[in-house]
Amino acid sequence: MEWTKEQRYRKIDDVTEKEIQALAQLVNQCPWRQSFHIQPVTGLLNDPNGFAYYNGEYHLFYQWFPLGPVHGLKHWYHTKSNDFVHWENVGMAIEPSNDYDSHGVYSGSALEHEGKLYLLYTGNTRDENWNRHPYQCLAVMNENGAITKSDNPVIGDVPKGYTDHFRDPKVWQQGEMFYTVIGAQRENESGCVVLYQSPNLQDWQFVGEVKTDLEYFGYMWECPDYFEMDEQGVLIFSPQGLEAEGDAYHNIYQSGYVIGQQLDLEKSELTHGRFQELDRGFDFYAPQTTLDANGRRILVGWMGLPEIDYPTDKNGWAHCLTLPRELSIKDGKLIQQPVDELTLLRGKSMEAKKIMNHETITLDGFEGEAYELIVEFSANTAAEFGLELRVGENEKTIIKYDAAERKVVFDRTYSGQPFAENFGTVRKCKLDAEIISFRIFVDSSSVEVFVNDGEEVFTGRIFPNKNSQGIRLFAHGGQTSVKAVKWEISSDNEK
Ligand code: FRU
Repeated sequence: MEWTKEQRYRKIDDVTEKEIQALAQLVNQCPWRQSFHIQPVTGLLNDPNGFAYYNGEYHLFYQWFPLGPVHGLKHWYHTKSNDFVHWENVGMAIEPSNDYDSHGVYSGSALEHEGKLYLLYTGNTRDENWNRHPYQCLAVMNENGAITKSDNPVIGDVPKGYTDHFRDPKVWQQGEMFYTVIGAQRENESGCVVLYQSPNLQDWQFVGEVKTDLEYFGYMWECPDYFEMDEQGVLIFSPQGLEAEGDAYHNIYQSGYVIGQQLDLEKSELTHGRFQELDRGFDFYAPQTTLDANGRRILVGWMGLPEIDYPTDKNGWAHCLTLPRELSIKDGKLIQQPVDELTLLRGKSMEAKKIMNHETITLDGFEGEAYELIVEFSANTAAEFGLELRVGENEKTIIKYDAAERKVVFDRTYSGQPFAENFGTVRKCKLDAEIISFRIFVDSSSVEVFVNDGEEVFTGRIFPNKNSQGIRLFAHGGQTSVKAVKWEISSDNEK
């Protein structure tokens, strides 16, 4: 279905209860609804927003177009949790309502201040020629969860030298001051990030462009995030317009990070190492981090990408968020581990050990649609070894190690309903290691693979037949010793 501008920008208040019911029914008939990931009740979800620990709970908002699987008028939807695992759908959080956010409450972030949660977002507007004009806006949530918009906009214009692609403020506090980085595009159509500071979150002053070594690195940087860890500075962002390079940058847009010295807030300067991708799989974009109650740095991404049709579209919804990942730094690289709390989902378990030699095997009881699986391969002489998931008639999703190339491979060529095929159906990434372990979370329509304790992560949506539930292990051209543990996922995501 082609969506007209009127349909995309229809006010939610004009939609009848009957229409919403019909849409919800269509969504609920979808065979690919997730069981333990955050997903929209109807419509399209994109970026995670406003991720914060506040008032004893974790709050996670996301970009939401309620009426269908397209990028229409964006709202913030609110979910919350006590444990990063069981999420409660709270409901609509911020709606377009003013001249400064009439065409979308776009992405942003949150920070606790004086007992309230401050939500800084980009208000998107369009003029009569459909040219966009961004405004940075503030909304404040109180302890009861009530959200009110402040005296807006708090940043009313784009500084000289930058285009109207200027959005996604990520806010933090350092000493007495508040800072925000904003994704921007220079007038020469290259991407960058700019820095503002404020004494009170309301009045903002432009400090300057964050100077990096990435002079021309894509045409726009979306969703920046800056934080410090182990006395190093980490800048995450989602650059658009990178060319594929070896095994990297094969998705429509990328997201990754640079690590360096702590950001010089006066000079607005970041000395840093090379850009590295956060996820080596398919569907991952616009991640955001927060500090949890215990000082852990937790990251959540959008498990989807813009401008791509997904098989769930015909059921009136699209996309979900990734599982939360705990970040750490090792040898100049971000290590990403699923948060410990995910073990709360573990139900019945089974285990197996086996030496495999030129063979493909199945293990008793190893099958399913949603589960956690850890598979470790050691004493490897095989040319390649790995596993196949969601195996059924003509369907399988392959995760393997190619020992000759020393690469991890995620292959969704035969995963089920095809989509995004023009971006390729195989992703690879170099990994030099003797023992290879995959910690895998499989949901009804997604796979997240944490390789060797989070050294690399591969995320991908897959759309297999409901009955494709097999698991197979294989070793080709040699031998491997395999240990496997599988847990059923015990509880429904929503409490
Ligand atoms: C990234 C993004 C952001 C923007 C939001 C709008 O996916 O394009 O830059 O704020 O989505 O939904």
